[in-house]
Amino acid sequence: MHRKKRIVKKKKKINSKNTDRKILEEVIRVDHAGEYGATRIYDGQIAIFGKNSKIGKTIQHMADQEKEHIEKFNELILEHRVRPTALLPVWNFAGFALGATTAIMGEKAAMACTVAVEKVIGEHYQQQQNLIKNDYKELKKTIKKFEKDELEHHDIGIEHDAENAPGYSIMTKVIELGCKTAIAISKKI
Ligand SMILES: [Fe+2]
Ligand SMILES: [Fe+2]
Repeated sequence: MHRKKRIVKKKKKINSKNTDRKILEEVIRVDHAGEYGATRIYDGQIAIFGKNSKIGKTIQHMADQEKEHIEKFNELILEHRVRPTALLPVWNFAGFALGATTAIMGEKAAMACTVAVEKVIGEHYQQQQNLIKNDYKELKKTIKKFEKDELEHHDIGIEHDAENAPGYSIMTKVIELGCKTAIAISKKI
Protein backbone atom coordinates (compact mmCIF):
# COMPACT_ATOMS: atom_id res chain seq x y z
CA MET A 1 0.00 0.00 0.00
CA HIS A 2 2.71 2.43 1.08
CA ARG A 3 4.86 1.50 -1.85
CA LYS A 4 2.05 2.23 -4.31
CA LYS A 5 1.61 5.72 -2.93
CA ARG A 6 5.31 6.49 -3.34
CA ILE A 7 5.29 5.41 -6.95
CA VAL A 8 2.37 7.72 -7.73
CA LYS A 9 4.21 10.62 -6.12
CA LYS A 10 7.30 9.98 -8.20
CA LYS A 11 5.28 9.92 -11.40
CA LYS A 12 3.75 13.31 -10.62
CA LYS A 13 7.17 14.82 -10.08
CA ILE A 14 8.39 13.66 -13.48
CA ASN A 15 5.26 15.01 -15.13
CA SER A 16 5.76 18.52 -13.79
CA LYS A 17 8.90 18.76 -15.90
CA ASN A 18 6.92 17.82 -18.98
CA THR A 19 4.54 19.97 -20.94
CA ASP A 20 0.92 19.23 -20.16
CA ARG A 21 -0.71 17.76 -23.29
CA LYS A 22 -3.74 20.05 -22.95
CA ILE A 23 -1.46 23.09 -22.74
CA LEU A 24 0.54 21.89 -25.74
CA GLU A 25 -2.65 21.58 -27.77
CA GLU A 26 -3.89 25.01 -26.73
CA VAL A 27 -0.55 26.62 -27.57
CA ILE A 28 -0.36 25.10 -31.04
CA ARG A 29 -4.06 25.66 -31.78
CA VAL A 30 -4.04 29.33 -30.77
CA ASP A 31 -0.74 30.11 -32.49
CA HIS A 32 -1.92 28.46 -35.68
CA ALA A 33 -5.10 30.58 -35.50
CA GLY A 34 -3.16 33.76 -34.72
CA GLU A 35 -0.67 33.33 -37.54
CA TYR A 36 -3.50 32.59 -39.92
CA GLY A 37 -5.30 35.76 -38.80
CA ALA A 38 -2.08 37.77 -39.18
CA THR A 39 -1.62 36.66 -42.80
CA ARG A 40 -5.21 37.74 -43.48
CA ILE A 41 -4.72 41.18 -41.88
CA TYR A 42 -1.73 41.87 -44.12
CA ASP A 43 -3.59 40.45 -47.13
CA GLY A 44 -6.35 42.97 -46.45
CA GLN A 45 -3.89 45.85 -46.18
CA ILE A 46 -1.98 44.89 -49.33
CA ALA A 47 -5.30 44.56 -51.21
CA ILE A 48 -5.93 48.24 -50.50
CA PHE A 49 -2.41 49.68 -50.86
CA GLY A 50 -1.20 47.40 -53.68
CA LYS A 51 2.05 45.51 -53.31
CA ASN A 52 4.08 47.91 -55.44
CA SER A 53 3.43 51.00 -53.33
CA LYS A 54 6.11 52.01 -50.83
CA ILE A 55 3.96 51.08 -47.87
CA GLY A 56 2.83 47.91 -49.67
CA LYS A 57 6.44 46.73 -49.89
CA THR A 58 6.98 47.32 -46.19
CA ILE A 59 3.83 45.37 -45.39
CA GLN A 60 4.85 42.63 -47.81
CA HIS A 61 8.05 42.08 -45.80
CA MET A 62 5.95 41.42 -42.70
CA ALA A 63 3.45 39.34 -44.68
CA ASP A 64 6.30 37.12 -45.95
CA GLN A 65 7.35 36.42 -42.37
CA GLU A 66 3.75 35.66 -41.40
CA LYS A 67 3.65 33.18 -44.26
CA GLU A 68 6.68 31.40 -42.80
CA HIS A 69 5.00 31.40 -39.40
CA ILE A 70 1.72 29.91 -40.62
CA GLU A 71 3.55 27.29 -42.68
CA LYS A 72 5.44 26.22 -39.58
CA PHE A 73 2.24 25.95 -37.55
CA ASN A 74 0.55 24.07 -40.37
CA GLU A 75 3.34 21.49 -39.96
CA LEU A 76 3.15 21.50 -36.16
CA ILE A 77 -0.60 20.99 -36.10
CA LEU A 78 -0.16 17.81 -38.16
CA GLU A 79 2.98 16.63 -36.39
CA HIS A 80 1.39 16.89 -32.93
CA ARG A 81 -2.11 15.90 -34.11
CA VAL A 82 -3.76 19.03 -32.76
CA ARG A 83 -7.24 19.94 -33.88
CA PRO A 84 -7.24 23.41 -35.46
CA THR A 85 -9.69 25.99 -34.17
CA ALA A 86 -13.18 25.65 -35.62
CA LEU A 87 -13.14 29.40 -36.08
CA LEU A 88 -10.66 29.62 -38.97
CA PRO A 89 -13.42 30.87 -41.33
CA VAL A 90 -14.18 33.66 -38.85
CA TRP A 91 -10.53 34.68 -38.53
CA ASN A 92 -10.23 34.48 -42.31
CA PHE A 93 -12.93 37.11 -42.71
CA ALA A 94 -12.24 39.16 -39.57
CA GLY A 95 -8.49 39.38 -40.27
CA PHE A 96 -8.98 40.55 -43.84
CA ALA A 97 -11.70 43.03 -42.81
CA LEU A 98 -9.49 44.49 -40.06
CA GLY A 99 -6.56 44.86 -42.46
CA ALA A 100 -8.62 46.40 -45.25
CA THR A 101 -10.54 48.76 -42.96
CA THR A 102 -7.45 50.13 -41.26
CA ALA A 103 -5.74 50.52 -44.66
CA ILE A 104 -8.72 52.52 -45.98
CA MET A 105 -8.33 54.78 -42.93
CA GLY A 106 -4.77 55.51 -44.08
CA GLU A 107 -1.16 54.38 -43.81
CA LYS A 108 -0.78 55.48 -40.20
CA ALA A 109 -3.96 53.68 -39.17
CA ALA A 110 -2.77 50.52 -40.92
CA MET A 111 0.50 50.74 -38.99
CA ALA A 112 -1.41 51.40 -35.76
CA CYS A 113 -3.25 48.13 -36.39
CA THR A 114 0.13 46.37 -36.74
CA VAL A 115 1.39 47.94 -33.50
CA ALA A 116 -1.68 46.76 -31.58
CA VAL A 117 -1.80 43.24 -33.01
CA GLU A 118 1.92 42.55 -32.79
CA LYS A 119 2.12 43.88 -29.23
CA VAL A 120 -0.48 41.35 -28.11
CA ILE A 121 1.03 38.47 -30.10
CA GLY A 122 4.56 39.31 -28.92
CA GLU A 123 3.48 39.29 -25.27
CA HIS A 124 1.51 36.12 -25.83
CA TYR A 125 4.53 34.36 -27.32
CA GLN A 126 6.61 35.44 -24.37
CA GLN A 127 4.13 33.97 -21.88
CA GLN A 128 3.96 30.72 -23.82
CA GLN A 129 7.69 30.12 -23.41
CA ASN A 130 7.01 29.52 -19.70
CA LEU A 131 4.20 27.07 -20.44
CA ILE A 132 6.27 24.90 -22.75
CA LYS A 133 8.78 22.78 -20.85
CA ASN A 134 12.08 21.45 -22.09
CA ASP A 135 10.48 18.30 -23.48
CA TYR A 136 9.46 20.50 -26.43
CA LYS A 137 12.65 22.49 -26.87
CA GLU A 138 12.21 22.88 -30.63
CA LEU A 139 8.74 24.36 -30.23
CA LYS A 140 10.05 26.73 -27.59
CA LYS A 141 12.78 27.86 -29.97
CA THR A 142 10.25 28.40 -32.75
CA ILE A 143 8.06 30.53 -30.49
CA LYS A 144 11.06 32.55 -29.37
CA LYS A 145 12.07 33.23 -32.98
CA PHE A 146 8.52 34.23 -33.92
CA GLU A 147 8.27 36.49 -30.89
CA LYS A 148 11.32 38.34 -32.21
CA ASP A 149 9.70 38.71 -35.65
CA GLU A 150 6.43 40.00 -34.17
CA LEU A 151 8.25 42.58 -32.08
CA GLU A 152 10.12 43.68 -35.21
CA HIS A 153 6.73 44.16 -36.92
CA HIS A 154 5.57 46.18 -33.92
CA ASP A 155 8.63 48.42 -34.23
CA ILE A 156 8.11 48.85 -37.99
CA GLY A 157 4.62 50.13 -37.14
CA ILE A 158 6.03 52.66 -34.66
CA GLU A 159 8.72 53.76 -37.14
CA HIS A 160 6.00 54.41 -39.71
CA ASP A 161 4.29 56.95 -37.52
CA ALA A 162 1.51 54.70 -36.21
CA GLU A 163 1.24 56.77 -33.05
CA ASN A 164 0.12 59.78 -35.09
CA ALA A 165 -2.85 57.94 -36.59
CA PRO A 166 -6.14 59.69 -35.79
CA GLY A 167 -7.70 58.05 -32.72
CA TYR A 168 -4.53 55.97 -32.13
CA SER A 169 -5.15 55.39 -28.45
CA ILE A 170 -8.74 54.17 -28.73
CA MET A 171 -8.13 52.26 -31.94
CA THR A 172 -5.18 50.29 -30.55
CA LYS A 173 -7.09 49.55 -27.35
CA VAL A 174 -10.05 48.17 -29.31
CA ILE A 175 -7.80 46.05 -31.55
CA GLU A 176 -5.78 44.77 -28.58
CA LEU A 177 -8.98 43.75 -26.82
CA GLY A 178 -10.21 42.04 -29.99
CA CYS A 179 -6.95 40.10 -30.29
CA LYS A 180 -7.02 39.03 -26.65
CA THR A 181 -10.60 37.84 -27.06
CA ALA A 182 -9.68 35.94 -30.24
CA ILE A 183 -6.78 34.30 -28.35
CA ALA A 184 -9.01 33.23 -25.46
CA ILE A 185 -11.59 31.72 -27.81
CA SER A 186 -9.14 30.04 -30.20
CA LYS A 187 -7.38 28.14 -27.40
CA LYS A 188 -10.56 26.23 -26.61
CA ILE A 189 -12.87 26.17 -29.61
FE1 LIG B 1 3.49 35.87 -37.03
FE1 LIG C 1 3.65 39.58 -37.10
